Amino acid sequence: MEDKQQKVRTSVMRPFGPTILKAEMPDFVVNDMIDLTDKILETPDYPSYGSKLIGQISSEPEITKSQLESIGMIEIFDSLVKNYVTQLIPQVISKSTGTLGGQSDPTVEVSLKGCWAISQYENEYNPVHSHGSCQISCIMYLKVPEFTPRNIEGKNNDIDGCIEFIHGGSADHNHFIRPTVRIKPTVGDFYVFPNTLLHTVYPFLGDGERRSISCNYLHKVIDSETGVQVLGDSVNANNGRS
Ligand SMILES: [Fe+2]
Repeated sequence: MEDKQQKVRTSVMRPFGPTILKAEMPDFVVNDMIDLTDKILETPDYPSYGSKLIGQISSEPEITKSQLESIGMIEIFDSLVKNYVTQLIPQVISKSTGTLGGQSDPTVEVSLKGCWAISQYENEYNPVHSHGSCQISCIMYLKVPEFTPRNIEGKNNDIDGCIEFIHGGSADHNHFIRPTVRIKPTVGDFYVFPNTLLHTVYPFLGDGERRSISCNYLHKVIDSETGVQVLGDSVNANNGRS
């Protein structure tokens, strides 16, 4: 009986819903981004991105494209977003798997729409939100402090300082469906996800700084044979807002 069971191959398929790409950045990338954001945060009256953001966080400086270019970072970010889009094209453009048909080998263009740092301290938080006027969003963690335990009797707290993504309605425990995924921030981790994917960041206790950067991207998917754009950025998505 045991032998027979061992010959049964299983695999789990989870083809529905939004996809999150995770990359682990090497130390030199993390250090360059920490240096850049240190300099920006030390600049008096740095341009803030905060008026465009819902975060209950006081330090959210803008990071410009030229600042990212100056440390060679834009190529790295661009390639991760391009990788994400390219991997997912067969979900929608493919004769075998996609709903649009086609050959799934089009050209992909990506462009940065906006980038900012989030320097989060004790009791600050980010309410549930999505990102506007783009198609792809990214998060990268630069600093994660020790969180002071809340010491609430009978409770384990692995939630403080986490990000939680939310998609797909109610929990359905009997069918093992959970509409959220909670992720602990780890320095160097970089996530790419659809801009429409709701997410929230929980507050924490303690003296340290939790620092991340976010960026928004546009993409264009172009049919290689006809030159016609088939997915991605439209006029409405690129109307000057961030
Ligand atoms: Fe966000």
